[in-house]
Amino acid sequence: MDDLKAKYLDLIANASDEAAIEEVRLAAVGKKGEVSLKMRELGKMTPEERQVAGPALNALKDEINAALTAKKTALADAALEERLKSEWLDVTLPSRHARQGTVHPISQVTEEVMAIFADMGFTVAEGPQIESDWYNFDALNIPSHHSARAEMDTFYMKTPEGSNDAPPVLRTHTSPVQIRALEKNGAPIRVIAPGRVYRADYDQTHTPMFNQVEGLAIGKDISMANLKWVLEEFLSAFFGKRVKTRFRASHFPFTEPSAEVDVQCKWEDGKVTVGEGDDWLEILGSGMVHPKVLEAAGVDPNEGQGFAFGIGIDRIAMLKYGIPDLRAFFDSDLRWLRHYGFSALDVPTLHGGLSR
Ligand code: PHE
Repeated sequence: MDDLKAKYLDLIANASDEAAIEEVRLAAVGKKGEVSLKMRELGKMTPEERQVAGPALNALKDEINAALTAKKTALADAALEERLKSEWLDVTLPSRHARQGTVHPISQVTEEVMAIFADMGFTVAEGPQIESDWYNFDALNIPSHHSARAEMDTFYMKTPEGSNDAPPVLRTHTSPVQIRALEKNGAPIRVIAPGRVYRADYDQTHTPMFNQVEGLAIGKDISMANLKWVLEEFLSAFFGKRVKTRFRASHFPFTEPSAEVDVQCKWEDGKVTVGEGDDWLEILGSGMVHPKVLEAAGVDPNEGQGFAFGIGIDRIAMLKYGIPDLRAFFDSDLRWLRHYGFSALDVPTLHGGLSR
């Protein structure tokens, strides 16, 4: 009996995994195990022999079972220990740096512009980038023979097959949104329309695609004086200081009278600063909306009047943030974007403009 005990306790102690333990269990206390067979022999014994052997075998069986359970638990504990060691996590390690994208200066500036005009009661209007001849030209008092069409270096699309219409164009300015917004809303109206426009042009300050923001305010008696105030208020809020402006008489087919607006600036070492010095830089076209344009948009010129303007978004972005080459805006160079881009948290807030 002691031999059996020593044998199995030894086997159990040396079992290295669950399968080995199971093997030992079967060999000892399984149905055909050595201890079980011995117990079956109890029946053949005399009562005296059985009185001694019975309890001894039972005790042996209990001891082996206990040893098996203990070994199993020990193995499981060791396995867990091993796993915990390999899956250990150092929460004090510095986190791995995750590269974040940046907000493109055009998006940033567009947001800034929208926030400032929203403060003055302007909502945002939209129109398609592929525009009809009518909205881009005729409705804006630019008939087909007009020299303005040639000057604009228009990209023409294909006329749909079987159509006699003039070919659609990539809009050359955001002014067609004036017509669309008026058709949709009627007057009075106060909207801005930021977006992409296209002209076949390419050098340091011109790209075939660029961005404008159109402004339109039509009411009963909106005047050139209102235009001047709104623009000066906008420019000062945008550049963060009082910016002097110069209104130069100009000509656009869709406004009468028309004015191009220059901002005060200073040139130093080839760099320009807005709001200082006594140079001037043109940044926008504007004027009183032409009666023919109002008519084309279904507004009675005797009932309403007002102003419109078109600002180059890329232009004012370059000026505000000191970006020298327009073409880089659209090269998608990650180094450029990282340098000139904005943090997503750098969102413009609404503000009441500057005090005088
Ligand atoms: N559409 C003109 C341009 O692209 C700008 C402009 C808009 C001028 C509105 C007057 C009024 O140059």
